[in-house]
Order: sequence, then C-alpha cells, then structure tokens
Amino acid sequence: MKAKFGSKIGLVAATVGSAVGLGNIWRFPAEAQANGGAAFLLLYIACVFLLGIPVMVSEFALGRGGQSDAVGSFKNLGASKPWWSVGALAVLASYMILCFYMVVAGWTFEYLWQSITGSLYDGIDSATSAPFAAKMNGFIADGWNASINTYIVLALNIGILLFGVRKGIERLSNIMMPLLFILLLVFCGVALTLDRASDGVEFFLNPDFSKITPRVALNALGQAFFSLSLGMGILITYASYYPPTTILTRTALTVSLLDMLVAILMGMIIFPAVMTFNLTGEGLEGASLVFITLPEVFTHMPGTQLWSILFFLLLMVAALTSTISISEVSIAFLQDRFKLSRVKAVLMAMLPLILFSTICAYSQSDSFSDIRIAGMTIFDTLDFLATNICLPIGSIFLCIYVGWFAPKGFLYRELTNDGDVTSHVFNVLLFIVRYVAPILIGLILIGVFI
Ligand code: PHE
Repeated sequence: MKAKFGSKIGLVAATVGSAVGLGNIWRFPAEAQANGGAAFLLLYIACVFLLGIPVMVSEFALGRGGQSDAVGSFKNLGASKPWWSVGALAVLASYMILCFYMVVAGWTFEYLWQSITGSLYDGIDSATSAPFAAKMNGFIADGWNASINTYIVLALNIGILLFGVRKGIERLSNIMMPLLFILLLVFCGVALTLDRASDGVEFFLNPDFSKITPRVALNALGQAFFSLSLGMGILITYASYYPPTTILTRTALTVSLLDMLVAILMGMIIFPAVMTFNLTGEGLEGASLVFITLPEVFTHMPGTQLWSILFFLLLMVAALTSTISISEVSIAFLQDRFKLSRVKAVLMAMLPLILFSTICAYSQSDSFSDIRIAGMTIFDTLDFLATNICLPIGSIFLCIYVGWFAPKGFLYRELTNDGDVTSHVFNVLLFIVRYVAPILIGLILIGVFI
C-alpha cells in the first residue's frame, strides 16, 4: 500500500510547503525590481494562470495516475524511454538550483543568528544612509563567512534527510507557514504606513508597458515555475500520495493562489521600504534586496529584535522544507538508478554541494565577483540556466506527453476522479496543455535568443 496524505488540509499544506520558500520571499522581489516592477508582476500573474496552473495540473495528473516518482510515473503509464529521460533534465535543474539555494539559505541562517544575538542591530546609525546594505554587502563580500553559514545549513539538511525527521519538519511547517503568512500581513501593514509607501506601491502596481521585453517575459515565466516548484517532478511525487478523491484542479488553484499571495505580499512590503529608505542603486539591488530592506522595516516597529528573530526563523523553516524537497530529487535518482542505500545516496548527493555552494558563495564575494559569464556571476548563471531554461523546457515536454502521448482518456479520468465529479475546465485545460503551453513557452524561450 502506498502512503497517502492523511487529510485534505495536510495535502494542500504539504504542497504549499514545497512551493512557498525563498523563491517567494527572496527571489520574487529581486526579480520584480530588476524587471520593471508592475510590468513584471503582470507578466508573472499571467504566467501563473495561463501556464503555471495547467502545468501543475498535468504534473498532479501524472503523479496520481502513475502512482510513482517523476521517472516511475512516466514508466507506469507506459511511456517509452525518451519521455522519462525528461526526468534527467529535472535532476540536473534541481541540482543546479540546490547550489545557489543553499547559499541563500545560509544567508538566512546568518541573519537568524545575528537577530538572536542582536548584532544585526548593533551600531546601526540611522543617520548613515542604507546601514543594512553596508552590513549585508560586507557579509557577502567575505566569501568564507558566507560559506560557513552554507555548511551549517547543508549539515542541517543532511541531518534531516538521514535521520528521517522529515515528517517532523513537515508538521512544523504546517504550523509555521500560517504563522509566516500572518507575520507578512503585519509587516505589510507597517510598510504601507511608511513615508513614501505610495511611491513603492506605484512602482509595484502601476505597469509601465514599455518595460516589457522578451527577457522580462522569460524572467517572469522562470519565476512563476520556480516559485510553484514546477518542472522538477516534485509535484508528480507529491500527487502520487494524493487520495483518489482529491480534486486536482481545485488543489492546483489553491496552491498557486496562496503561493502568489505570499509573493505579492512581499512586494507590498519591500517596495514601500525601498522607496522610503532610498534603497536603489548599485549594490542595493538583486540577491541581497530582502536582507537589506526588511531589517529597515523592523527598526520601525516596537520590539525590533523579536520581529526579526521570528521572521528569519520562519524563513529558515520555509527554506528547509524547500531544500529538502529539491534534494530529494537527486537522492531518489541515486537510490533508484544506482541502487544505493539511503545513507550513501544522501551523502553522494549532498557532499559535492560543499564544493559547489562554496563556488556560488565566493562568486558573490569581492574577490571573485568580476568572474562573469555573459555578464552574470556564477551564482546568477546557475540560477538563469536552471530556472529560465531547464524548468521551461522540462515543462514543455511534460505538456506534450500529457496532452498527446499519455494513454487515451487519462487526463479526463484524473480531472474527473474517474467520472465522480464533473470538470468544467477539462476542455480548456486540454487545449492549453496541448497547444498553448508548449507553443507559448517555446516562443518565450526562443524570443530571448533572437
Ligand atoms: N518553490 C520553492 C520556492 O519558491 C523552490 C522550489 C523549487 C522547491 C523547485 C521545490 C522545487 O522557494
């Protein structure tokens, strides 16, 4: 008997737990800022609805219909070899994501630690401009310091993956995720009362259509897929645990809306703060944005340190539930393909990350940040290749398989729970999965290179 999720809330919460992570809180605001604010938001929302949700439904259908992991589900449905080799791309993408995700999780750990000891707020003089930028930039400038934190997070991951306290972590996250949500609402309330909040809201919500370029569209697509955990087979695996009564379209909608809401809340917190504290310009944008802006917001709240500890603690848990689900892709691959024991597979997947994440951490530091590939640091290059290239390509093949090659009537059976419920959106979804998604994702990808 295959394990099943115990309750409806549990299965939605677990899927949301994988989706909500650093992608929403750290990556989304940085991408929105770099890609023109509201114009990016608009494209991102369009990508979530038009492409993200249909791809998610396809992954769910594949997993629940195939009753196995990413590769096994394809096989169980009778797919021939080239189809399940799409799984190889997923393994590659997930590993590339792990390399830089671990580094950001390491930054989060450092900020949690500095919040607890109070050193984050020591010697902060509000007369100097952007004091937290100086702190953050000083921190990542020192590649060794950033690496040490990454190792701590890596060790935490290995511990959880080896000792199987995953269930505990997931239970923890079921409590902490709603708490994170409430916390963000509070911060949003505070951010919106800042002096220049309206300028921030304007940047985030009032689109300047001239900012839309093929590259911005690709970035929005990548962000949507990254944030929804698509294209990596994780949702296939999760859905294989869904009971036959789960309504897949409704679950996909709930997960996507919650995930999007967290991202939008973050935008409503970050951009008022960016405008009020004048946090734009060289060294203030990009990967460090959240770590520079949020402490500013906390200093404007009574009980600064407490809010700071709470936030970075919750962010750490959100990051862990995501790193664990991403790591599982490579670990399951090693276990199944090479018949390795759990311990060996965990160590073989995780130990090389010591080297790779060190490279990523150092690539953001002072000594190596001028090593660039097409203008990007190694960290950003890995992110770009995995998020903007591998995830969309994987999703195209997934849609083509589900839309055209899966057993006849398969998608219909999954969407209607074998005829138990009616699916009003079946025809629309099938149309998107067959035509719109492969063509549109393909065009967006090609658009960047011509
Ligand atoms: N969706 C997660 C986030 O937003 C990251 C992730 C990607 C997790 C892919 C699993 C798979 O942080």
